[in-house]
Amino acid sequence: REPFSEKLRVPESLTFDDVLLRPMESRVEPDDADVSTRVSTNVELNIPILSAAMDTVTESGMAIGMAREGGLGVLHRNMTIEQMVDEISHIKRADELVIPRDDVVTASPEQTVSDVDAMMEHAGVSGAPVVDDEDTVLGIISGTDIRPYLEVGETDAVREAMTDEVITAGEDVTAREALELMYDYKIERVPIVDAEDHLVGLVTMQGILQRREHENAARDDDGALLCGVAVGPFDEERAVAADEAGADVIFIDCAHAHNLNVIDAARAIAENVAADVVVGNIGTREAAEEVVDFADGVKVGIGPGSICTTRVVSGSGMPQISAVAEVADVAGPQDVPVIADGGIRYSGDAIKAVAAGADAVMLGSFFAGTDEAPGRVITMNGKKYKQYRGMGSVGAMKSGGGDRYLKDEPDEEEDYVPEGVEAATPYKGSLASELHQLVGGMQSGMGYVGAETIPHFKEKSKFVRVSAAGQTEGHPHDVMITDEAPNYSPNE
Ligand code: XMP
Repeated sequence: REPFSEKLRVPESLTFDDVLLRPMESRVEPDDADVSTRVSTNVELNIPILSAAMDTVTESGMAIGMAREGGLGVLHRNMTIEQMVDEISHIKRADELVIPRDDVVTASPEQTVSDVDAMMEHAGVSGAPVVDDEDTVLGIISGTDIRPYLEVGETDAVREAMTDEVITAGEDVTAREALELMYDYKIERVPIVDAEDHLVGLVTMQGILQRREHENAARDDDGALLCGVAVGPFDEERAVAADEAGADVIFIDCAHAHNLNVIDAARAIAENVAADVVVGNIGTREAAEEVVDFADGVKVGIGPGSICTTRVVSGSGMPQISAVAEVADVAGPQDVPVIADGGIRYSGDAIKAVAAGADAVMLGSFFAGTDEAPGRVITMNGKKYKQYRGMGSVGAMKSGGGDRYLKDEPDEEEDYVPEGVEAATPYKGSLASELHQLVGGMQSGMGYVGAETIPHFKEKSKFVRVSAAGQTEGHPHDVMITDEAPNYSPNE
């Protein structure tokens, strides 16, 4: 056999702080750098950013926020399948143009005006289509119609008060057409009807304006926000339910996807769902070779995460820049997108991951302190924090999902062998401002390299190796910071 001492002839593996992007000739202004990318074979994003599938990071609030900014939130899986389906539908309906029939508040012609007034106030709407028992649209009633009836005619029927010349549109109406109708007729809502004049939905001015606010949003072909969902490698039932509920990308969520049982199960899931399937996590060329023939995307990261203890607990892992590069060497030629997951503290780390071959990056701790993350703000010693915990921490494993670490669920709490910690992270305010800093920093990196698009940047960028002295030089030094920068904290 080979002498043991041969094992010590080890290849060097590098991570974020070991490298910097070599500055190059450029005519690219950072603001002009195009950061759109692919997260999986068929799903495109406008920013190359994903929020982690963790129970202190991504539920529907975060996923809606991420997609509105052009990225993708990946729902965690410490919830029941029913809760997951509800969360997906919440995301899919968040910015919808046409509110579906079941969600439209309607009035009947025989109801009293005061009754409808109370009903609309309770539902938080300012108008309602009036329909008969067959759901045929007879008119529309709004606060303006009701006002003259208040007090003197409250018991009059809606039929008296409603506007009966109602402007409707067909099911294939576009946002532009609906808006034109609203301007032409000075109305704020347009009932959507089928060929028999039956109510099938409603378009509101408020809904259209909300969509306009998020021009860069990542949407599906129907205009709904994109949604990612994590599922356990052996949970095909959850994967199929997510697929049927409209998830765009299903993430096979495992700490070690190079386990061959995981690969068999992931392959079966990929064959049985219509959504794209991203498989992870992996960290080596050999693992990539196993998954690229059936996966629509691969996710890289064995132990780089801020709350991970995988490397110290198991003694196994791969420094993240090398891991991404090895996987990208295999996935790139097969045209399978690569996602770098974990360990990103600064925007500079994110763009280094792209230079190493990633098409997009996934972050947990970066977003856990934002308003959009689940959980409340806590104050300790006068400073605000939010909870952030590893999905392999005892607390998170007790809430389900321990199979991410391929372990059976123990009977006793002390029998868990965690691979993550439970922590607090500084409260950061809105997700949009965090993303602004993150994406803006990545665009600066593209400017220094002189690449206008992510694919060009991946091809053109080069690394230089940084010594310990070089790392120290790269952070603020020999000064006392007096005003905190929005994108740099010495304690991070
Ligand atoms: P960051 O550094 O962005 O990392 O906070 C988020 C990623 O870390 C992974 N993750 C874990 N890894 N033990 C681990 O070894 C854990 O308990 C754990 N929880 C999350 C995951 O890939 C996530 O996206």
